Amino acid sequence: MTKFTVNDRPVQYKMDPQTPMLWALRDASNLTGTKYGCGTGDCGACMVEIDGEAIRSCLVTIAEAEGRFVTTIEGLSRDRSHPIQQAFVAGNVPHCGFCIPGIVMAASVLLKKSSDPTDDEINAAITNLCRCGSYPRLRDAIKRAGR
Ligand code: FES
Repeated sequence: MTKFTVNDRPVQYKMDPQTPMLWALRDASNLTGTKYGCGTGDCGACMVEIDGEAIRSCLVTIAEAEGRFVTTIEGLSRDRSHPIQQAFVAGNVPHCGFCIPGIVMAASVLLKKSSDPTDDEINAAITNLCRCGSYPRLRDAIKRAGR
């Protein structure tokens, strides 16, 4: 049985320890804001925060997450939208929206490290794929959210 903390709550999963975190979050915890896009670490739709770093949850087993602190999009804000989410809505960033939770998680980690990121810093931190091509708008929204 693996134990760790998800969105400030202790969690135990009775699953195969090699289960990717993505599926434990979605299937056992019903945290479906973490999306499955590729399952191979390419798209970033499954991005969560683990111990302060943006991590693709399809590449981390629950055994590897033992004792660590995980935050999903559901845990990013409780009562109202996170400033990044507000900036994304104000800036009309989402089109289809599928990639947005993962991008918001990556942006949240970036803004904790740099509140006024440059385009290069954003490009380096946001390696998520957006098939709608919303990159210019999401860069603007991340800058607004940091101010
Ligand atoms: Fe994890 Fe695509 S589902 S990177």
